[in-house]
Formats: sequence, structure tokens, C-alpha cells
Amino acid sequence: MASLQDVDVPPIQDEDAGVMGLTEVDPSPVEQTPIEEREKSYFPSEQQGESWGPGAAGANRSGTLGLRLGDHGVVWWLTRAQRYSSYAFTLFTAFHITNTALLPLLTRSVSESNRYLLLTRPYYQSFLTEPLLVAIPLVAHISSGIALRLYRRRKSLQRYGAETKNDRRTIPWPALSGTSALGYALVPFAGFHVWTTRILPLYAHGDSSLINLSYISHGFALHPIISAMGFTALVGIGVWHFVWGAAKWMGFAPSQVPAYESQKTLVRKRRWYSINAISAVVTTLWLAGGLGVVGRDGKVIGWIGKEYDDLYRYIPFLGTG
Ligand code: HEM
Repeated sequence: MASLQDVDVPPIQDEDAGVMGLTEVDPSPVEQTPIEEREKSYFPSEQQGESWGPGAAGANRSGTLGLRLGDHGVVWWLTRAQRYSSYAFTLFTAFHITNTALLPLLTRSVSESNRYLLLTRPYYQSFLTEPLLVAIPLVAHISSGIALRLYRRRKSLQRYGAETKNDRRTIPWPALSGTSALGYALVPFAGFHVWTTRILPLYAHGDSSLINLSYISHGFALHPIISAMGFTALVGIGVWHFVWGAAKWMGFAPSQVPAYESQKTLVRKRRWYSINAISAVVTTLWLAGGLGVVGRDGKVIGWIGKEYDDLYRYIPFLGTG
């Protein structure tokens, strides 16, 4: 039988090579693994549905040493930007639904509700609060959502090793959740609403102090069908997006039912119906006040009415000529 020395072994080039011709390397510390490869949150986790919740991704890594700020990946920062921006906007929404729906419903009077609107306006329309409660959160919320989507797309192209244009075409984009789709659908409606109530008056008349619920009533009197359709879509899409988003933040979404739940299907179904029922109730309330009271108050007469007419003339497809 031939011994090991008799066999014709090829010369070994590597100085670190061991007996079997395999290179011995020192163990790699965990820290050398690129942060994005360690990112646990690329795929939705079973319990969180998505990696939004506390305890997802980065929080797990902080371990007993506490939170290490530099230790988080892109997804961690973007999901947090998306979450906390929505908290700021929730405060504005609470003011807004109170002013545009609850108070009109309670007082049954637009002029009475306008007094409350003016009273609370300084809290969300001052030099400091408007950017902090409305503008920055809105921009941060939308742009972090888009950035997350693009980042996930890039990661999946890398994972599947897409090289050509054709490869990229065959690899699907990350799934768009219903909540995200509602969010994107809301952008043109909310954008148009902010433009008509806040930007246009500033641009056309130099300030928006004349804008109140009567401006909306005036718009309804001039263009009843388009106003009713526009506000119904704005409120409906907005409320469904807010309520589903809030359910997700709180871990109540159907996709977040824990894996150990014995009656998973039943719990999922119950959550789905509850979230939609809450959305329907809030939408009905908002529309009852916004359309039922504000929308039916009629035209404003006198010089303020003329100012409103002038503003509505700027809107291309509403122009009264
Ligand atoms: C029937 C329902 C609604 C009515 C009657 C209404 C009315 C108004 C009015 C009069 C303003 C002028 C600012 C003020 O005085 O408060 C305004 C601003 C605004 N509304 Fe609405 N709104 C309604 C629904 C919504 C919804 C569902 C959203 C959420 C997407 C929304 C988002 C905004 C924003 C972001 C501003 C600008 C706030 C600022 O920068 O001060 N509105 N709305």
C-alpha cells in the first residue's frame, strides 16, 4: 500500500496552509460582517409583520450593553423616521378632525366652529409649529417610505445577483402593502388640499388669514360634485391609511398575530374587521361634520366671498371664469 509520502502531492504555495492544503485563517469577529448583511429586518418577521415594532432589528442587537447609536443599519433609521414623523402628524390630525368635523357636528354652526378654529390655529400654524407638526413630518414620512422601498429593491437585486436590465425586470419589486398603497394614493389629494388651503392664499393674496371653514363651504357651493368627491376621497383614504398605520405601529395588524397564537386565523380575521370598522366610523364622523355641516353652509357673501371667488379662479379645473 502506498504511503502518503509516495503520492505525488502538488507543491503548496500558501505559507499558512495546513496539513491538508487548507489555509488556516483566524476567526472573523462578528463586527466585520457588513452591517447590512446582519440586518434582520429585510424580510417581514413572522410576529411583527414588518420590522417596524420595538424589539425588531437594531433593538435586539443593543443587548445588555444598551443602545449603541452607530450600530444601526439604513432600514432601522428609515423605519424610525417613518414612525416618529407620524406621531407628530397625529397631533395635527387630532386638532384637524376636532376643528373640521367634531366641532361643526357639536355646534351645528360653521361660524361658531370658525371661532374654535382660529383659537387653536396658532398651535399648528405658527412660525415654529407648522414646520414641526406638519411640513417636516409629512416630508420625512413620505421620503423615508420611498427610500425604504428603493433600498429594499436594491437589496433584492443584489441578493438575486441581477446584472442586466433583463434580470432587473424579472426580479419583482418588494410587495406594496395596502397601507403603503393608501399612503401613496393620499399624496395627490393631501397635496391639493394643502395647496388650496395654505399655499395658494399665501401666493395669491400674501397671507391665509381669511381661510377658514367658510372657504370650504364656499367651494362646496360653487362646485358641489367635485368638492364632495374630493373631500370624500381625501378623508376616506386618509383615515384608512392613518388607522391601518396606527394598528401596525401598535402591533395590532392582522399580519402581526404571533406565530404561537392557537387561533391564528380567527384572530387575524377579528383584527381585520376591527381596523376596518374603526376606519369606517371615523370616516363617517369626519364626513358628517365636513360635508354634512361645513359642506352645506353655502356661499359667503360680501368682500370675503369675492376674495374666495378670486382664489377658486386660480384652480385650473375649478375656475369660475
Ligand atoms: C372634510 C374634511 C376637511 C376639511 C373641512 C378641512 C379643512 C381645512 C382647512 C380650513 C384648512 C386651513 C388651515 C386651518 O385653518 O386649519 C386645512 C388645512 C390642512 N388640512 Fe384639511 N380639511 C379636511 C380634511 C383633511 C384631511 C383628511 C387631511 C389629511 C390628509 C387634511 C390635511 C390638512 C393639512 C396638512 C393642512 C395644512 C395645515 C397647515 O399647514 O396649517 N385635511 N384643512
